[in-house]
Amino acid sequence: MTGGAQVDGCIPVIAIDGPTASGKGTVAARVADALGWSVLDSGALYRLSALAALRRGIVDTDEQALSNIARQLDVRFQGDKVLLDNDDVTEQLRQEHIGDMASRIAPLQPLRDALLERQRAFRQAPGLVCDGRDMGTVVFPDASLKIFLIADVDARAQRRYNQLIEKGFSANLGDLLKDLKARDDRDQNRLVAPLKPADDAVVVDSSNLGIDQTVERILAHWRNKT
Ligand code: C5P
Repeated sequence: MTGGAQVDGCIPVIAIDGPTASGKGTVAARVADALGWSVLDSGALYRLSALAALRRGIVDTDEQALSNIARQLDVRFQGDKVLLDNDDVTEQLRQEHIGDMASRIAPLQPLRDALLERQRAFRQAPGLVCDGRDMGTVVFPDASLKIFLIADVDARAQRRYNQLIEKGFSANLGDLLKDLKARDDRDQNRLVAPLKPADDAVVVDSSNLGIDQTVERILAHWRNKT
């Protein structure tokens, strides 16, 4: 992945944070598209670190090895595809056990430090829309607009279930609900960069909104700012 050269505080950033399966990724991509900006799916970097670690047999407690992996990730984002070591891992990255491992290694500070500059390098003109857990609090604290996207856990489990079935994976709604709750708990209660709204974030609840409505609401907040 090449991030580009200059990090420029004048380049606008819309930071979208929120829990797993709140629809952040889809919404961020659509908002970026509407504005003609680039997009950063920061969760993909944590998932890629998890996948690279699994491939090398590194356990989720080995801080040093995990931060080395994160620092050396050989990643390319090509349109909708993600390549790790030249291998197309787009589908693999979305698997539940990869997301689970990502959330188990994400509390490690050296790993987060290793990914920080990579994320900031995505800030390129004319603007960036990024999604994750700490975009507005840690990675881009000066973001022009911060959205905290929530949805109740049942709605999120149902969405994740539908996505998996659509892609031909098998899924069990009860298991997904249990996993989402465990992941929310880990992401919210960790000491390092916990999932929480920035003080100046706007909370958008998408439990009863479709993708189009959620995108429109965020664009309206952006228009109000400019
Ligand atoms: O967003 P996604 O589900 O792909 O992220 C996978 C995991 O990576 C999350 O559960 C979270 O623990 C971690 N993550 C993070 N900070 C981010 C993005 C993701 O800690 N900015």
